[in-house]
Amino acid sequence: MADLPSRKKLITFTAPVCAVLLSGCAALTELASIEALPDPARAGAPSALEARGPAAAQMEWLWWFMFWLGLAIFLAVMAYLFWALFRRRQEEGVPLTQRQEERIVIWGGGVFPTAVILLLVGLTISALGTIANPARQAAFTIMVTGYQWWWEVDYPDHDIRTANEIHIPVGEKVQINLTSNDVIHSFWIPQLHGKLDANPDRITSFSIEASEPGVYWGECAEFCGDQHAKMRFLVVAETADEFEAWANRMSRPIEAPEDPLAQEGLQVFMDAGCLACHRIAGTNATGQLGPDLTHVASRRTLGAGALENSIGNLSGWISDPHSIKPGVYMPASELSGPELQALLHFLGTLD
Ligand code: CUA
Repeated sequence: MADLPSRKKLITFTAPVCAVLLSGCAALTELASIEALPDPARAGAPSALEARGPAAAQMEWLWWFMFWLGLAIFLAVMAYLFWALFRRRQEEGVPLTQRQEERIVIWGGGVFPTAVILLLVGLTISALGTIANPARQAAFTIMVTGYQWWWEVDYPDHDIRTANEIHIPVGEKVQINLTSNDVIHSFWIPQLHGKLDANPDRITSFSIEASEPGVYWGECAEFCGDQHAKMRFLVVAETADEFEAWANRMSRPIEAPEDPLAQEGLQVFMDAGCLACHRIAGTNATGQLGPDLTHVASRRTLGAGALENSIGNLSGWISDPHSIKPGVYMPASELSGPELQALLHFLGTLD
């Protein structure tokens, strides 16, 4: 009797624990709002609990169902525990019979957990079926290749090659064929779909669909080296007309620059060796190691979501990419002031 905790003691113990747990929630919310990375497109927080597509909505529903079920079971167990701790002392003299004890073990420890697990397995299988939705054909296919630490994006049907930014028409199912150029990456757009691994020498596929226009963050969800955390991308879901206009623009090679500064910039691009790694359609630059730069000025970020795409940031990126993304394969340039100026001007025309 003397060993049983008093109500006061229990409260003294549980109150600080609850406070710590709740402050954890606040800290997480705060963490989500500390944007170390830019939010150039005012894309929302990449939360799987703010679904904007049918697949993510299925997963969000399942998540909440598990959460509320888990909470209800937790509260029921706690209520039982507290009842056992505080039930009236006079009831103590009557111990449970062996039959009663066995019943508690069989129902509470066997039948009930099995029923809950089977229910969750059933719901998960049904959700997976809905997510796969083989009944609906994908409108077109996008090839996505993971590189340390950026994403190449190809639209074979539209003759487009770009990087770190995927445009899709809203309300359309679009197939993603994933692969990797080096190590295993994982392609994840929390608001649209679950993760899928990108493996070297293998293609994995799934379909994404956005139910609302918007800009959604995607990220690499498999540790893949130094800059795994800065291997982000954007998915821009837009109306069919906007998508068509974008696709038309993106599939065009660049025209020879007319103004002298841009011409000079193109020359710097060739002479400084940028062409060895980067491609610009319509020029002699056909490099395959780094992101395609044909329409680099139209993109919202630089360095796979590391920086907002502005002339100032581009200048810093070209001059010293390692201070922004240590370990990145792009070498620092040794351009003179005027050369850098001309190069930036030229790249700025590639929209
Ligand atoms: Cu690619 Cu992590």
